[in-house]
Amino acid sequence: MYEPFNPPTRLLLGSGPSNADPRVLRAMSAPLIGQFDPEFTRLMDRVMALSRLTFRTENRRSFPVSGSSRSGLEAVMASLIEDGNRVVVGNFGRFGDLFCEIGRRCGATVESVDVEWGRIVEPDAIRASLRRQPAKLVAIVHADTSTGILQPLEEIARVCREYDALLVVDAVLSLGGCEVSADAWGLDACVAGLQKCLGGPSGMAPLTYNERVEAALRRRRGSPRTNYLDLLQLQDYWGPDRLNHHTAPTSMVYALHEALRIVEDEGLEAGWARHRRVNDALVAGLEAMGLELFGDRRHKAPMITLVRVPANVGEAAVRRQLLDEHGIEIMAAFGPLLGSVWRIGLMGYNARPENVLRLLAALEHVLAANGFDPPPRAGVRAAAAHLEARPRELQAAPR
Ligand SMILES: Cc1ncc(COP(=O)(O)O)c(C=O)c1O
Repeated sequence: MYEPFNPPTRLLLGSGPSNADPRVLRAMSAPLIGQFDPEFTRLMDRVMALSRLTFRTENRRSFPVSGSSRSGLEAVMASLIEDGNRVVVGNFGRFGDLFCEIGRRCGATVESVDVEWGRIVEPDAIRASLRRQPAKLVAIVHADTSTGILQPLEEIARVCREYDALLVVDAVLSLGGCEVSADAWGLDACVAGLQKCLGGPSGMAPLTYNERVEAALRRRRGSPRTNYLDLLQLQDYWGPDRLNHHTAPTSMVYALHEALRIVEDEGLEAGWARHRRVNDALVAGLEAMGLELFGDRRHKAPMITLVRVPANVGEAAVRRQLLDEHGIEIMAAFGPLLGSVWRIGLMGYNARPENVLRLLAALEHVLAANGFDPPPRAGVRAAAAHLEARPRELQAAPR
C-alpha cells in the first residue's frame, strides 16, 4: 500500500511555478461537466473573452492550448512552419534557444540572432537579418526567465511588418506581470502560461493570434505534422462550431477561467503596479544586504530578479537551507550562469509584500550561516522602507 502524498507547504519564489491563488485551486475542485454541455461551452466563451482582455487584443483567435506553456509555443511554430521556411530567433537566453530548437524540429532553417545573456536584442540586429534574407517569422521571448531581462517589442514588431515577417512572442513569464499589448504593439501571435504571473498551476497555455497568422495557416500546403497542436483544428474546436478535437482538461479550464477573472478583478494596470512595487522592494533589500544583481538594469523584468552568488558562498547550499529550514524555494540558473546566480521570482499570487520580507529575513539568516554576513536587518529594513513609501498599491493586492 502506498501512502497518500501530503506535499509540504512551500513558498515558491523561483522561476515558476509559483504558488497558485487559493481561488484557482478552489475552482479546480468543482464538479466535472461534459465538454459539449452548454454550461461548458459558455465557460469556453468567457475564457476567450477574458484572454482577449488580458492580452489586450481584439483577436478573434484567443484561446488556450491544453498543455504547459511550451505546448502553446509549439502549436504556433508547428502550425506555421513548413519545411525549409526561414525563421529568425531573437535570442537572449534559454527560451530563445527553445524557440530555435522547436523551429528546427518543425523543419525550418533557423537563424539565431544571439546577444550576450543579460542584454536585450537590438531591433537593428533583426532588421539586418531580414534584410539579408526574408523570413516567414521572427520569434522572440518577451521576458526571459533565464536572464531576468524584459525585451522591448514595439520596434521589432515594426521591423517585422516592414519585411513582411510574422512576429511570434513568448509572453509566458510576462503576461499578467507587466504590460503585454498584443494589438497596440503589433504582435502577430503571443503565447503565455498559467503558472507564473497568472497565479495558477502549470497546464494551460493561453494564446492569441491575428488574421495575418490565420491567413498564413490557411495558405500552408498540407497539414502540420502534429494533430494535437494543429492550430486550425484547435480554433475550430474553440470556435462557434466546437468541432471535436481533444477531450478538454475540464479542471484546468476552470483554473484558467478563475485565474483570468482574478486578473480582471484586480485590473491589469493594478496588477502590473503590484509586481513592480514588490519586485523593486526586493531589489532594494538585496542591494542593502550587499548583494549584486545580474543583467542590464534598464531592462530588468519586474517579476524575476537574478542575483549574483557572493564569492565563497555555496550556491546550492544556500538554496537547500532556504528550502529545508524556511520552506522557501528559489532557483538555480541555467547555462553560463549556472552556479553563479540565483533566480528569485515574485509572480502572480506570490507578488505580495509579506513574501518579500519573509524571503529577505530568511536569506539574511542563511547567508550568515554560509560565510556572508550582511548588515543586520538591512535587507528587511530597505524593503520595508520601499513598501512604506508606496502604500497605495498595497491595498490593490488581491485576497
Ligand atoms: C519564458 C519561458 N518560456 C517558456 C517556458 C516553457 O514553459 P513550460 O515549462 O510551462 O512548458 C518557460 C518555463 O519556465 C519560460 O520561463
